[in-house]
Amino acid sequence: MLIQIPPRSHCPSSEITPESLYLSRRRFLGAAGTALGAAALPAWALADDAPRYPGVEPGSPPAWLAQKLPGTRWQAVEAPGEAITPYRDASHYNNFYEFGPDKGDPAANAGQLPTEPWTVRIDGEVGKPGQYALEDLIRPHALEERIYRLRCVEAWSMVIPWLGFPLADLLKRVEPTGKARYVAFETLVDPEHMPGQRSHFALLDWPYREGLRLDEAMHPLTLLAVGMYGRVLPNQNGAPLRLVVPWKYGFKSIKSIVRISLTEQQPYATWNQRAPGEYGFYANVNPAVDHPRWTQKRERRLPNSLFSPNLRDTLPFNGYAEEVAGLYAGMDLTRDY
Ligand code: MTE
Repeated sequence: MLIQIPPRSHCPSSEITPESLYLSRRRFLGAAGTALGAAALPAWALADDAPRYPGVEPGSPPAWLAQKLPGTRWQAVEAPGEAITPYRDASHYNNFYEFGPDKGDPAANAGQLPTEPWTVRIDGEVGKPGQYALEDLIRPHALEERIYRLRCVEAWSMVIPWLGFPLADLLKRVEPTGKARYVAFETLVDPEHMPGQRSHFALLDWPYREGLRLDEAMHPLTLLAVGMYGRVLPNQNGAPLRLVVPWKYGFKSIKSIVRISLTEQQPYATWNQRAPGEYGFYANVNPAVDHPRWTQKRERRLPNSLFSPNLRDTLPFNGYAEEVAGLYAGMDLTRDY
């Protein structure tokens, strides 16, 4: 499905980062071709698996992704006026507590996580429960590239081109029963490869778990991602399968998923259980509800520095209000934060 993000979701032009990064390989090659002449382009730039974004190393995708890439709908959802966060920041400034609490820990420690083979258990209130191999799970779905804003509850943000398919398409395939009201997700438990899970000082209990209401899970913006920047997901970003819910704080976007359960009751959600006064189950991006220890009115867009903090106003539902506000009609979002 082609989703056009309507104009009201667009960021005001005053927020356009002047040194905008280019968005597509076509544009990149066009620009490079003009500047250098096509003959001067390096061989990899013309190959099928050439990097689509700067800073992404050329390389071969895993077989299950290589089969899908030619049919991908590039830029199916755009973020007009937004500069895409450089790949280096998106892949080296991460939250993935299974690999440690610091922003650099996931990139430093996640490389050894085995992501092939990978299976996902789907159970609970579904007509077709099962243990699905990743490639079987993905095979029926065409991939789309979607450029989404990501707003962390810690008040930093990025703009990331994800590769994936709507969670709704998978859920329809497994046939939720009439009792299904929520969707619960779990991350892998693998203390051997996830040092954060061996630590006695870990903030969180494992597995990392998250949940959505069924209508949120079925919303066309809710994405299951298998890649980013035209590539397979780096391990530190949640390989091989993660959730992306762009109107919610980033902690809802659970990484390295091994289980999806359809439930009648509201599921356990890791941060919500850890500190319910600070992290709600809904976790919709909301500048009107501050975190008890900091404001949510503003955010710092990466890349930034002490001298160039790159601050901007946070938008209700992270700029996706037109698409999703209706899901919460009649709710008091200061209470159900
Ligand atoms: N998923 C798992 N399994 N473990 C985590 O620690 N951190 C969450 C979310 N998903 C997390 C997770 C948080 S707090 C954020 S902001 C995003 O992942 C960050 O995603 P990124 O590192 O790809 O930017």
